[in-house]
Amino acid sequence: MFEVSGKIIAVTGASSGIGQAMASHLAKSGAKVIAIARRTEALSKWAENTDGSVGFVAADLGDIDSLANVSQKIKSHFGNVDILINAAGLNPRIHADEVTKKIWNETLDINLNAPFFLAQQMVPAMKESKWGRIINFASLQSERAFENGISYGTAKGGVMQMTRAMAQAWSKDGITVNAIAPGFFPTELTASVFANEALANQNANQTCIGRNGTMDDLTGPVQFLCSNASAYITGQTLYVDGGFTAK
Ligand SMILES: NC(=O)c1ccc[n+]([C@@H]2O[C@H](COP(=O)([O-])OP(=O)(O)OC[C@H]3O[C@@H](n4cnc5c(N)ncnc54)[C@H](OP(=O)(O)O)[C@@H]3O)[C@@H](O)[C@H]2O)c1
Repeated sequence: MFEVSGKIIAVTGASSGIGQAMASHLAKSGAKVIAIARRTEALSKWAENTDGSVGFVAADLGDIDSLANVSQKIKSHFGNVDILINAAGLNPRIHADEVTKKIWNETLDINLNAPFFLAQQMVPAMKESKWGRIINFASLQSERAFENGISYGTAKGGVMQMTRAMAQAWSKDGITVNAIAPGFFPTELTASVFANEALANQNANQTCIGRNGTMDDLTGPVQFLCSNASAYITGQTLYVDGGFTAK
């Protein structure tokens, strides 16, 4: 029921953090995984050290016009993608007064525009096989306003609604689309949050469980959404946040 073995899975943001941890877990579970990010060295090191069928494509997903080409490169590894995991993200943490058009557009490009236009490239083949999975990454900021989060929160609010709209567009073709909204997990993206012990503790105390997340907390939910076990779930955002948003 939770099997992902043999599935062809593209994971963006796989040069670090959550994307990389999910890519490693899915490869270990027997999937054929293509990792995508800008840093060639990090991707190549990951591929060398990961058992199973893996490949990588180094690309700047912020270059939206290049995504058809990126999609072709992804396909050249194992064939048509069954599952797309949009984990690439960027959080500039800048106050609304200071945000420039460039920062605003970059944040929306990586967090919102690339997931849509990359998915649009991969959906025709998923439709043909009448099976597909798209998993987006939302955030606590999809529904909450955080300090210095205006561009990121706007993008992540968009991700939540885009997930519903993608589900509306494509679920009848056998493609389910869902999002995962993580609480606080230590990665490059949240380095400044975890460097501040008082803030990290405050975030942990805000959860029902009483701690921040670890990568193992995400592998089960991601595998669930990749598998047939979640066949009747679409358009949903699953908070994997230890109950942060329940309080
Ligand atoms: N960590 C958390 O607590 C948390 C909480 C809520 C939501 N999230 C979301 O979860 C996802 C993963 O975040 P993370 O914490 O794992 O962050 P991370 O460790 O900073 O990883 C971000 C990834 O995105 C890639 N990326 C950034 N800009 C890119 C670009 N222009 N083109 C291609 N790839 C690009 C980076 O690779 P390169 O630099 O090599 O390009 C990196 O692999 C993000 O969508 C994030 O918003 C995370």
